[in-house]
Amino acid sequence: MPSTKAPEDAYTAEPFVPQGAGLDELRRAAAGCRGCPLHRDATRTVFGAGDEHARVMFVGEQPGDQEDRQGRPFVGPAGKLLDRALAEAGIDPGEAYVTNAVKHFKFTRAGPGERRVHKSPTRRETTACGPWLAAELALVRPELVVVLGATAGKALLGPSFRVTQVRGTVLEEEIHGRPERLVPTVHPSSVLRADDREAAYRGLVSDLEVAARALG
Ligand code: URA
Ligand code: SF4
Repeated sequence: MPSTKAPEDAYTAEPFVPQGAGLDELRRAAAGCRGCPLHRDATRTVFGAGDEHARVMFVGEQPGDQEDRQGRPFVGPAGKLLDRALAEAGIDPGEAYVTNAVKHFKFTRAGPGERRVHKSPTRRETTACGPWLAAELALVRPELVVVLGATAGKALLGPSFRVTQVRGTVLEEEIHGRPERLVPTVHPSSVLRADDREAAYRGLVSDLEVAARALG
């Protein structure tokens, strides 16, 4: 019997992304994406949110437990920390568009209560989800992209991206055929996990200050 399972390298959101669509239409289409297996266990697609004309776009990894429940990016603990850091760096969250490299929550169940524990997406999954991020970039056309952590960095800049090497600097790269300015920093979740949280938080704020200055 022929296998009905698509080969893994066929994972892609591409056929689900409507051409020439606005942000609302994209968001509606993304709700039905089956471009990779992550839609099966997650509750819903968590598409980007914020001002369509935002000057700055933040790209995280993937929605977490709270984002999966609420359907909006960065509303859980990492998002709260990011909001605080943005305020300190002088970036108005109201002027930002916030999204993720991967639009479905990937998790395993662990511990007493079978809590849903974040699991990192594979390169295949971030690549599959890339057409959504490309469409968001093409529509919002931000002046600056803030790259939050390694997964977002690799999704946008390729597998050789190392956050420790480029954090807090302004990069100029062509991404999906458009010249972009980017400031990479650590993922806010890594601050929550750090042994020295205060030092990690100060590092995040200082990178975001670079982004604020680049925005002028
Ligand atoms: N972490 C992310 O990368 N994105 C979210 O939306 C929430 C937590
Ligand atoms: Fe589609 Fe991305 Fe969800 Fe995979 S993670 S199903 S590519 S929206």
